[in-house]
Amino acid sequence: MREAPHGAPIKTPAQLVAAIIAGFAVPIVIIVLLAVYVDNSTRTGAGTDSLSEAEVTARIKPLAQVEIRDANAPRVYKSGEEVYKAVCSACHASGTAGAPKFTNTADWAPRIAQGFDTLWHTALAGKGAMPPRGGTSPDDYSDFEIARAVAYMANNSGASFPEPAQPAAGPAAASGAAAAAAPAGASDAGAAQAQAAAAMAAMASVPQAAVPAAGGAQSADASQAGKALYQQVCQACHAAGVLNAPKFGDKEAWAPRLKEPMDTVYNYALHGKGAMPPKGGSSASDADVKAAVDYMVSAVK
Ligand code: HEC
Ligand code: HEC
Repeated sequence: MREAPHGAPIKTPAQLVAAIIAGFAVPIVIIVLLAVYVDNSTRTGAGTDSLSEAEVTARIKPLAQVEIRDANAPRVYKSGEEVYKAVCSACHASGTAGAPKFTNTADWAPRIAQGFDTLWHTALAGKGAMPPRGGTSPDDYSDFEIARAVAYMANNSGASFPEPAQPAAGPAAASGAAAAAAPAGASDAGAAQAQAAAAMAAMASVPQAAVPAAGGAQSADASQAGKALYQQVCQACHAAGVLNAPKFGDKEAWAPRLKEPMDTVYNYALHGKGAMPPKGGSSASDADVKAAVDYMVSAVK
């Protein structure tokens, strides 16, 4: 018997095998191509972007970075709620370790009865399982910010304390205003601590290396050198009145001091007095320190 005359395309077993393979392979190739087409974003293997700008910048960036904080820059204070959430809520939200629970008026009533200043002082100094400042440092949260957190917690738990007054300006003001707002003695410990911290921060930002340079400039113009030294060193404390330093331009603060002979005033600046370090902690020349005193004194004349 003969095969059909119109002739099938597959005539030998080899052709049959080829047809079967093609029957499977062609759809698979089409599917693969479609899949690649759908997801055809550029693919990079590990490490192939190693010369990209971002990668290179990340690799050659300096190991250590110094963050310079201007001690006299106006400070942005956290709200009571922010401080509470960041710090105090760790214990006060659930009443851990016997902490008075947030919004629990029964827990708070006897404490609120002590008055705001006592609570504030306790928050700064600590009490029993309550760590001083909730375990933070004065650098993290100023007295004022702790005061806000106390007011926030107490006011959400039955009190109606007024919002603590914001300190005027500068790092020292944070503690200065705190001391002013508190009844005499109540927050002395906390305020003194914060003041010392503010002064340390101020001193740290003093460019020590720049000071001898001011000495070199001395011959050029004494008043220039005095102003330069003031700006580099003395203003760390004298601009804001850190540690009760007489404030620059504050006639009242300077008047009693200027009743003494100028040589005595120079001597205090050169050799220190109370919290005032000799030469303001710098290594400037005597002439420059005197020039800085003259510059400060001329501002209150
Ligand atoms: C590690 C847990 C803990 C943290 C964090 C904490 N407190 Fe407390 N706090 C306590 C405990 C415990 C008490 C109860 C102390 C007592 O009465 O002996 C307390 C009590 C207080 C009181 C009442 C004091 C009094 O006179 O009875 C105030 C106000 C207070 N905390 C404020 C704060 C503020 C503000 C923060 C955040 C800056 C804070 N606490 C963070 C545990 C904590
Ligand atoms: C670390 C903070 C600090 C720095 C920095 C500082 N002072 Fe003072 N200064 C004080 C304090 C605090 C007082 C008040 C001392 C007192 O009366 O007990 C003071 C007081 C003075 C007085 C008045 C002394 C008097 O009673 O007659 C003069 C003058 C003075 N400083 C000059 C300078 C000069 C100049 C510089 C810079 C070279 C400087 N201070 C840097 C903290 C500082």
